[in-house]
Amino acid sequence: MSESVTSNPLRIVVLISGSGTNLQALIDQIHQGEVPARIVAVISNRADAYGLRRAEQAGIPARVLSHRDYASREAYDTALQAQINEYRPDLIVLAGFMRILSDEFVRHYQGRMINIHPSLLPRYKGLNTHQRALEAGDPEHGCSVHFVTPELDGGPIILQASVPIDASDTPESLAQKVHVQEHRIYPQAVEWIARGRVRLEDDNVLFDGQPISEQQRRYRAKN
Ligand code: GRF
Repeated sequence: MSESVTSNPLRIVVLISGSGTNLQALIDQIHQGEVPARIVAVISNRADAYGLRRAEQAGIPARVLSHRDYASREAYDTALQAQINEYRPDLIVLAGFMRILSDEFVRHYQGRMINIHPSLLPRYKGLNTHQRALEAGDPEHGCSVHFVTPELDGGPIILQASVPIDASDTPESLAQKVHVQEHRIYPQAVEWIARGRVRLEDDNVLFDGQPISEQQRRYRAKN
């Protein structure tokens, strides 16, 4: 069983390593009143992550916890967990956090931690997803929001959006198209969780109490 989400608005800690455009999309949607949530902290493993500036500009506490200061993955994850828990979050949002997380860390937050991945999972787990989709000659590509489980990029899927692959696409152009969709589906998934509509039970995503359908998992723009 997962732990239940209790706070209203939902308390979120976002973990980043880089530019933070997904963080920005979430900040914007919360600001516009679309998502009943509050980002209580942003934590980066890199001091030069631009997302830290985005957090500061939005008045959100921004902290750096460098993996270089720790001898092992487990030691880092233990410190990270302690820092996260200071903020008593209901949900951990991984937004371009470029670290493999230890099983113990993942289990601690199971059902309370989500990730966005730039592919139509289960295709292309791991890195270089745009290049790989092009090389495979796929007609479409996309992105997925999923609950985080110990299997890398393998957790139950909440929401996916696809984009067509055109003959002229390069990894860069495809990345741009996918990013536009990421900025739509990540806030949408967070909204569902914040409103108590989506949760993880055992290994299943429930939507309004029922196993989520293929149709519900496919993103459709609101207007
Ligand atoms: C996104 O492509 C996301 O899918 C992946 O990392 C990237 C983060 O981008 N997990 P940004 O830092 O949110 O701009």
